[in-house]
This record gives sequence, C-alpha cells and structure tokens, in this order.
Amino acid sequence: DNMHAALATMPKAELHLHIEGTLEPELAFKLARRNDVALPWRTIDELRAQYRFENLQSFLDLYYALTKTLRTADDFHDLMLAYLARAARDGVMHAEIFFDPQVHVFSNGVPYDTVLDGLLEGLRAGRKRYGVTGGLMLSLVRDMSVESADRILDMAEPRRGEILGIGLDSAEAGYPPSMFVDQFARARSFGWHAVAHAGEEGPADYIRQALDLLHAERIDHGIHILDDPELQARVVRDRIPLTCCPLSNLRLQVVHDMRKHPVPQMVRDGIVCTINSDDPAYFGGYVAANYAALADAGMSLDGLAALAGNSIDASFADERRWMRMH
Ligand code: ADE
Ligand code: ZN
Repeated sequence: DNMHAALATMPKAELHLHIEGTLEPELAFKLARRNDVALPWRTIDELRAQYRFENLQSFLDLYYALTKTLRTADDFHDLMLAYLARAARDGVMHAEIFFDPQVHVFSNGVPYDTVLDGLLEGLRAGRKRYGVTGGLMLSLVRDMSVESADRILDMAEPRRGEILGIGLDSAEAGYPPSMFVDQFARARSFGWHAVAHAGEEGPADYIRQALDLLHAERIDHGIHILDDPELQARVVRDRIPLTCCPLSNLRLQVVHDMRKHPVPQMVRDGIVCTINSDDPAYFGGYVAANYAALADAGMSLDGLAALAGNSIDASFADERRWMRMH
C-alpha cells in the first residue's frame, strides 16, 4: 500500500547487513550445483522448512552451513550484486556491509583474496548499476579463536585500504568484547572504523565494553541498553548510534511481539536508532520490510523518516556523499 511504498522510497543507508545473510535458498542451491557442494536438503522447500529459529545459535548453525556453497570470486560477486539490486529497490543509497572472512578462509578453505576480490567487484558493479555506494566491514567471529582473528588480520593488512571497518559478530553470550581489545586496536591502527555487535543476546555490560575497550563508533543491536539507565544516558549524550534490526529480533526470539519492540521507546528516550535488516534472507524481509514492520506496529511515518535520516547521518560516508543523500 501507500505507507509501504513511501517507506521503500525514503532515502536511507543500511548499516547492519551481513552479506552471508543475504544468501537466498534459490541462490544457495544454484551455487551448490555450480560448485558441486553437497547440501543436506534435497529441495528448496526442504531447506525453507529449516527457517524457524529458537535463538541466535540455531540461526547461526544454518547460516554457517550455507556459506559452504560460496567458493569462487564469482560466487561472492553474484551474492553482493543480488543484495545491492534488492537494497536499491528499498531506497538504500549507501550500505556498509559485514562479511565473515574467518568462516570462508578457516572453515571453508577459500582464500581471503578470492573473497575480497569477489565482494569488491560486486560493490563496483552495484555502484555502477544502481548508484548504491558503500564499503566492507570485516567482522571478527567471536566464537572462533582469538588466534584466528589475528591470522585474518594478518591476511587483511596488505589490502587494509580496501576495507572500511572492523566488526564483531556471531554467538555473543560468553564471548565478551574484552577478548578482542588487541585485534580492535590493530584494526583501528589500519585506519578502519570500529563497530561491534553487543547487547543482542548478551548483557548491557557488553555494550559498555564495546565502547570503552574496543572504541566502537556504533553498536550493532544494543537493545539490552534499556537494562542499564546510566549507560543509556551516556549513549544519548554521546549520540552513539544503535543499528537495530526488528525482524531479526523477532525471528531470533530476542523480542516476542513487534508491538513490544523497544525501538519506539528508545527513540522517545533520545537514543539515535537506525533500522536495518541484519540477515534478510533468513528473517523474512529486506530493509523496507523492517521499516514496515514498525509501521504496522504503530510507528508513524514521520518517526520512521527520522530513523532513515539517522541511518545516513550514522554512516561512514564522506561529506560529499552525505550531501547527496540528504
Ligand atoms: N551473524 C550474522 N547475523 C548475526 C547476528 N544477528 N548476531 C550475531 N552474529 C551474526
Ligand atoms: Zn548482525
């Protein structure tokens, strides 16, 4: 309808998006065939039946299993271009996109340069075709070893100028940001921006650690900030953006009812929130569907337009690009 059309045409940035989380079942099957990778599901419907998640870990198990279909630079290129086509239709002008190289390199045996070449070529093609700008955020997988994080940074260092920033993702509880102080310091010394997932399933204190110890410029998810009023006051005062993902929270049972999603309350409290899709192939919709879910739960069009404006302001786009997006 009109509301949803308006939400899809609002200029916006997407700041919390895992490229592996855009792998649709159809593309996964196509890549599996192309690369002769065996999947444990015979049909797309059989695969689709797996998309009911109890929590973050049950989702991650499927997400990592399907990364095994990504083998060549062309695969990563096709994945990226498919995402950018979809994002452009949702009004995304700029995207800062996570990838999990430790998984591709150490779990799946794909060379780092293959992954990077494919994703960057996809970004270039998407910019040319759809006008979407953006960059890559190298995300450390917190439940793989700290040593493997060091090794992936060794591989990334010679081409550090081709990466926009560092992130921290995967299973959160039991893997506090304090484990990655040295890796984030090193990444920042490369000239990279820093962000981290914190307060999704983990406690508010992980948000504090991400700010104090990792010097994160944005917090991914961060919805458990509501448990800690003092930290909340700091995030408001310092205008630290949170990258919220409503459909992700619902599907991973972090939130049980969209009408109880904390975004409207966080906005009333003065927190700088942005709306993002996280892993849209898994959670039932791309970024405009996340805006629409909040609209259906009662948020106003003006309120959602302000969040779209926040996403552009919270991006790492340079001033020239920022001017063109506003
Ligand atoms: N990797 C992909 N999506 C994620 C999420 N929502 N939280 C943590 N790690 C992730
Ligand atoms: Zn995420």
